[in-house]
Amino acid sequence: MASLVGAFAASHGPLIVREWDAVPQNEKSRMSTAFRELGRRLSAAQPDVLIVVSPDHWSNFFLDNYPAVCIGVGGENEGPPEPWMKAFPHRTIAGHPGLAMHLAREAMRQGFEPALSHRLKLDHGICIPLWRMELERLPKIVPLLLNSIEPPMPSLRRCFEWGGLLRKSIESYAEPLRVAILATGGLSHSIGEPTMGTILEDFDRETIRLFNRPHDELVHFLEAKLPASGNGSEEVRNWLVAHGAAGGRGFELVDYLPVPKVIVGCGFASWRV
Ligand SMILES: [Fe+2]
Repeated sequence: MASLVGAFAASHGPLIVREWDAVPQNEKSRMSTAFRELGRRLSAAQPDVLIVVSPDHWSNFFLDNYPAVCIGVGGENEGPPEPWMKAFPHRTIAGHPGLAMHLAREAMRQGFEPALSHRLKLDHGICIPLWRMELERLPKIVPLLLNSIEPPMPSLRRCFEWGGLLRKSIESYAEPLRVAILATGGLSHSIGEPTMGTILEDFDRETIRLFNRPHDELVHFLEAKLPASGNGSEEVRNWLVAHGAAGGRGFELVDYLPVPKVIVGCGFASWRV
């Protein structure tokens, strides 16, 4: 049977690539260290497959059709379409149709009803963390695109439940695969709205603190605060999927720092699974 061997989370943001040279040296070096540490932990877990939970930043979907959740079930997906991601070393990225279809079937059986895609473009949300983690070997990637950018979005509680569903589904897959989960996005940021550029460090630190409390407390806090904490902060939903997969326990902060130049409160974490 397959097993869950790790759960990880990292922020992303276009300016982590586009404005990298302008980021102050101490912040650059802390971010690099944190990304590399996550890469080290991920590699140590030796996953055959990595489920990456990220929003789609209008790379595959638009307002005419934006699924709440879409699982990439294809044998391969395309690398990032953004022109400023062209130095990312993978133009196609292998998937794992067997596991992905199994996750989709199990989700349907449990009433979760994701959309499916046989070919996706994996944008910066997925590829910046993979890139910056400096992995020697890229595991097969099963993308799970979760709408965490365009209201209405899946509820925070549902995102947590998705994590539990993923874990159970992984554990019922017949092949002896090692599977890890990487959630990307958050923490606080604000894009294309009047508060653009604002980083809410207090919100971020309280969110981080509550990852070590019973998950109801975290969900209540986020339900109350997220609507006024910047639209980019909604991406913490992806972290809740990883948290749910870990059963709401074992959260370990690798680092957190607000980085004004990339306009994101940058968080890096893993869970003991
Ligand atoms: Fe994003």
